[in-house]
Amino acid sequence: MAQKWTPNSWRSKPIIQVPEYPDPNALKVVEERLSSYPPLVFAGEARALKSHLADVSEGKAFLLQGGDCAESFAEHGADNIRDFFRVFLQMSVVLTYAAAKPVVKVGRIAGQFAKPRSSDVEKKGEEVLPSYRGDIVNGIDFTPGDRIPDPERQIMAYRQSAATLNLLRAFAQGGYANLEHVHEWTLGFVKNNPSSERYTALADRLGETLRFMRAIGFSADKHQRLRETDFYTSHEALLLGYEEALTRVDSTSGDYYTTSGHMVWIGDRTRQADHAHVEYFRGIKNPIGMKCGPSMDPDDLIKLTDILNPENEPGRLTLIARFGHEKVGDHLPGLIRAIEKEGKKVVWSCDPMHGNTISAGGYKTRPFDYVLSEVQNFFAIHKAEGTYAGGVHFEMTGNDVTECTGGAHAVTEEDLADRYHTHCDPRLNASQALELAFLIAELLQEDRGVGGQSIAASA
Ligand code: PEP
Ligand code: CO
Repeated sequence: MAQKWTPNSWRSKPIIQVPEYPDPNALKVVEERLSSYPPLVFAGEARALKSHLADVSEGKAFLLQGGDCAESFAEHGADNIRDFFRVFLQMSVVLTYAAAKPVVKVGRIAGQFAKPRSSDVEKKGEEVLPSYRGDIVNGIDFTPGDRIPDPERQIMAYRQSAATLNLLRAFAQGGYANLEHVHEWTLGFVKNNPSSERYTALADRLGETLRFMRAIGFSADKHQRLRETDFYTSHEALLLGYEEALTRVDSTSGDYYTTSGHMVWIGDRTRQADHAHVEYFRGIKNPIGMKCGPSMDPDDLIKLTDILNPENEPGRLTLIARFGHEKVGDHLPGLIRAIEKEGKKVVWSCDPMHGNTISAGGYKTRPFDYVLSEVQNFFAIHKAEGTYAGGVHFEMTGNDVTECTGGAHAVTEEDLADRYHTHCDPRLNASQALELAFLIAELLQEDRGVGGQSIAASA
C-alpha cells in the first residue's frame, strides 16, 4: 500500500541535485511567498494537454516538445520569445502536414530554469566554486558571489515565467498563430537556405488550400481553429521546493496539480523509485514525462510506470528516450517490449540531444548528424516493434546561434565560438531546427506511405 502523498511528502525521501542554500530560513520565507502567488497555469489546461497526449499514445496525434536547455534572466525579451515561437510554429506546420495528424505543441519554456549537474563543483585553475544550477538557483559567472544559491531567484523565475507565458498566450490566441500568416513566420536570417525554400513551397501550397477553404466559407475570421493554436509549457521539475509552493488543489476535481507549467518531467539523473522526485511526481495529476537514458532497465521502467501511472491513464506518462545515436538500438527495443508486455499506455518521445553531446575546441556541442541519426533509429525501432513513435523533444532556439555543428548551413567546430550563447547545453539554431522538422516529416510520410505530393517533393 502506497504511503499517503502530500505536496511535501518528498521532503522525507532521499534527494540528489539539490542546491545548498546558505540561509534555510530565507529559503523558507521565499517558498511561503511563492505559495501565496497566483498559479501560472490552470488545472483545466493541464487536463486538456493530457487528453491531447492520450491521442498521441493512441497514434492519433504527434508531440513536438522543445525550447531552451536553460532559460536565462539575461536573455528574457520579446524578440527571443517571438523568434522561438515562430520557428516552433513553422516546425509544427511541417509536421502536421506530413503526419496528417494534429501536432501537440509543448515548449520547454516559461519555467525551464533548474539544471541537474554532473558535478557539485566547478574548478578553474586553483579555484573551486559551486556548479551553476540554472538561473532559478545561482548565477552563471564564475565568481563566489554569483555561485552562492540565492532563494530570491525563485521569485524572479516565477515572474519571468508569468511574463513569458503571457506573451505566448497572446501569440497563440491573439492572431499571430493565424494559419493565414503561415508565410510571415519565416525568420529573416533563415531565408536563402534549403529548409526555408522548402518551407516557402509548403506555405504556398497551404495558402492555396486556405484560399479554397475561404471560397467555400471556412475562413480564419469565422473559425477559431484556423486563427488560434494550443500551445503548452513544460519544464524539468527539479527544484521541488519551488514546485511544492506552486502545487495547488484544483477546485473542480479536488486533485493536486503543479501550476508552474502544464507538463513537467523527471530528469534522467533523479528518477530513482524511492527518491524525492518520484515521490513528488506520483501525487500531481499533470501530464508528466520521464527521461529514459542508458541506465534505465526494463524492470526499473515497469516499476516506475506503476508508481507514476498506477491507473494506466493514457496521456499521463510520456517516456522521453535519450540514449545517443549509437546506443538507442541497444536499449530502446527492450524497454518498448516490457511496456507492451505489461500493457502500459505511454507516449514514446525521442530526445536526440542529451545522449549526443561531445566536446570540441573547449565547447560542448552536438553534431546535427548524430541528432538526426538518433531520430531515424527511434522511428525505425518503433516500426520494427509495431509501436508508435509519438513525438520528439529538442533543445532549440529561434536565434541564429552556433552551438550544434552541422546542418545544411554547416556550422563547423571553428564556428562554435562565434555565437555560443546557451546557458547550459548546445541548442539547434532556427535553421537546424526547421531542417530537422523536414527530415522528420519525411519519416512521418514514409510511415503513411505517401508518395507524389510529399514534403520531399515540395523543395
Ligand atoms: C535536460 O533535458 O536538459 C536534461 C538535463 O536532460 P536529461 O535529464 O535527459 O539528462
Ligand atoms: Co539540456
